[in-house]
Amino acid sequence: MMNEKNGKNELGDLHPDSQVVAAGRPARTPDAPLNPPIELSSTFHAGGEVGYGRFGNESWFALEEAISLLEGAPTLTFASGMAAINAALSILPRGSVVIASKNGYTGAMKVLRTLEESGAIAVRYVDVSNTDEVLAALPGSAMLWVESPTNPALEVADLPLIIAEAKRAQIIAAVDNTFSTGLIQKPIEMGADISMNSVTKFIAGHSDVLIGSLSISNAEIFNKISDARKFGGAIPGPFEAWLALRGVRTLSVRLERAQANAMELATRLSKHPAVERVRYPGLASDPHHERAAKFMKGFGAVLSIEVKGGAAAADKACESSKLITYATSLGGVESLWERRHRWGSESPTIPINLVRISVGIENIDDLWADINQALSVSQR
Ligand SMILES: Cc1ncc(COP(=O)(O)O)c(C=O)c1O
Repeated sequence: MMNEKNGKNELGDLHPDSQVVAAGRPARTPDAPLNPPIELSSTFHAGGEVGYGRFGNESWFALEEAISLLEGAPTLTFASGMAAINAALSILPRGSVVIASKNGYTGAMKVLRTLEESGAIAVRYVDVSNTDEVLAALPGSAMLWVESPTNPALEVADLPLIIAEAKRAQIIAAVDNTFSTGLIQKPIEMGADISMNSVTKFIAGHSDVLIGSLSISNAEIFNKISDARKFGGAIPGPFEAWLALRGVRTLSVRLERAQANAMELATRLSKHPAVERVRYPGLASDPHHERAAKFMKGFGAVLSIEVKGGAAAADKACESSKLITYATSLGGVESLWERRHRWGSESPTIPINLVRISVGIENIDDLWADINQALSVSQR
């Protein structure tokens, strides 16, 4: 089965841009289809390796092969990114201490808080970009769960260092790699046990499917999480897996264009009179730039701005865009933006006027014209 491979099969020597195109294809035999069929079956003839539709499916395996190559470790896919996060946390013994970001994705924060309230785990919240704070939290912890760059503060952790120190302390090191994907940074190569993706975002890339993944370098952890998926039941649908595989084929070109657009917008926005602050690690002036440049191959396509005039002005900007969609989510071909505090659940450490922008692949001048007109409406 493809998901049992170590991420280094016969495609292992190719450039990642080629791997995402070539992975998960049926064998090259006469009249075999180029694309894997969508395997719609809950039930399988006895005597094989899969056994039942909750245990495996060829459509998942094809996608898992592509993500395994990107991330460099065997991969399990799930019904959503949140299902993947829940499965990873579910393997911890009761009472385990988890280190997590103060400013992480609100969904992950909610799960951590809920598990904490029920007594299942204890959480040490840290500023993941403050290496001393992370290192001080390591003793006695069971898992380091780090998102980098963080959503939506765009803070960058010193991943190579904190992963190495977590491993030295025999702590499970897990990275939420959603903002970067394996094309930009490879936590597993840095020594992490788990690299998680909300495949929903850049990997699938078309805002039409929810899927999550965990790429896992440690066999014991892989087996535990595989059981958590089998019996937790948060499996991806075969059609969703097929759509995500179709999406990943173009990941490298989408990301290249979206990152170039993000860099240009960040540069222009940092001089805009309606913008108090731009957060984007690609900007030389960003406090996280130097660190990010050391181990990231690019700076991603998400940036955040703080709009002059507070929450009302930020909302007005979002409501006034015509090309950019006012919506949550990120990583699709179409640009989206939203004021994060419109959700009651955003962390109090995030400024009230912060607008997260997921930059798509549209023409840069059209994007700029739209942002410019929306920001000028926001200041009236
Ligand atoms: C960084 C990050 N991790 C995890 C998730 C959860 O993924 P999903 O929406 O696929 O459940 C999200 C969703 O926004 C995210 O931004």
